[in-house]
Amino acid sequence: MSKVLACVDGSEISDRVLAKAVDRVKSEGGELVVLYVVEDFCPVGLTEIDCDMVRDFMRKEAKVIIDQALEKVRAMGVEAKGVIREGRPADEIVAFAKDEGIDEIFIGSHGRHGAKKVLLGSVSSRVVEYAACPVTVIK
Ligand SMILES: Nc1ncnc2c1ncn2[C@@H]1O[C@H](COP(=O)(O)OP(=O)(O)OP(=O)(O)O)[C@@H](O)[C@H]1O
Ligand SMILES: [Mg+2]
Repeated sequence: MSKVLACVDGSEISDRVLAKAVDRVKSEGGELVVLYVVEDFCPVGLTEIDCDMVRDFMRKEAKVIIDQALEKVRAMGVEAKGVIREGRPADEIVAFAKDEGIDEIFIGSHGRHGAKKVLLGSVSSRVVEYAACPVTVIK
């Protein structure tokens, strides 16, 4: 059975990523996994205690992003598995896809930062470059 991975970051384009991934699963069958990576990030100058608070906030935000994504997928008539990872988003996506034997990755051309002057965001460009499986970039 084929495995489809939808990468979401809570941006508007994530909804289109989910819709296209759902279409693929509906037309070709298979399993859908929705992934969000919490960035392992602590701004320079923060103390370890502050960083723990930032991490705590980001983990809560991750849960909201995944829950909302699963809700949207369900509303389109598909059950998906939600996964949260921590680290560098692109590297985690590529490693997850490899470890889980993902057949196709769906990702947005841009995300939350959305600088339209670049053709691809930093996460999507790295995933296109390093993933071992086909990557469908949603615009
Ligand atoms: N933390 C993340 N977890 C999972 N998928 C992500 C994450 N960040 C981005 N993505 C995926 O990559 C796509 C492109 O986002 P990306 O971060 O590359 O662009 P951006 O936010 O516009 O620019 P920037 O490079 O400044 O972050 C998103 O639509 C989403 O599919
Ligand atoms: Mg981004």
